[in-house]
Amino acid sequence: MQIETERLLLRSLRTDDAQALATLWADPKVTQYMGGPRDREKSRQGFEEDAELSPPPEIDLWPVVEKASAQIIGHCGLIDKEVDGQAEFELVYVFAPSVWGKGYATEAASAVKNYAFEELGLERIVSLVDPRNAASERVAIKIGMQFEKETLRPSGKTLRVYALHASDD
Ligand SMILES: CC(C)(COP(=O)(O)OP(=O)(O)OC[C@H]1O[C@@H](n2cnc3c(N)ncnc32)[C@H](O)[C@@H]1OP(=O)(O)O)[C@@H](O)C(=O)NCCC(=O)NCCS
Repeated sequence: MQIETERLLLRSLRTDDAQALATLWADPKVTQYMGGPRDREKSRQGFEEDAELSPPPEIDLWPVVEKASAQIIGHCGLIDKEVDGQAEFELVYVFAPSVWGKGYATEAASAVKNYAFEELGLERIVSLVDPRNAASERVAIKIGMQFEKETLRPSGKTLRVYALHASDD
């Protein structure tokens, strides 16, 4: 799997991506609205195991490589999620604070949206946004998603559901 944009490359997970992704998910700032920091060692092992899966899952989060530096600077893609009893595909975007504000999340999320509709044939994607996470909400809006409803998650948090149908894109 590979998606190339002007400045970014999203591609299948490799074993040697595990360290960079574990560092991303262990960052309290990055995970502030995403359930808090994950244990670095556990996630590193988890990513290493995931990289061995053959074939890799179609619905997945992919490492985002910054073409200019060849560094992994984010994790972006799709995950299966149940929302109010409905099976949904959630578009997720997670980037290192050092690259925030450059438009990378919008660039990656927009490319994943196209991949979801055009390559995977999905009918609808959603984003679940913590109301305090203004940057995340902005990315959802910039790629054309529309506010649909609020949902109470099993965690007890109320999140905003942004959605987009393939036919409206
Ligand atoms: C949310 C996140 C992915 C945005 O990444 P990014 O690469 O900085 O996003 P972009 O540069 O493409 O766009 C961010 C937009 O939010 C706006 N923004 C950023 N911080 C903001 C804030 N505190 N208040 C309001 N708007 C804000 C930016 O101005 C920009 O909008 P604009 O282009 O209209 O000016 C990044 O902050 C992140 O990784 N956060 C942690 C993980 C997370 O919460 N992900 C979302 C859940 S899936």
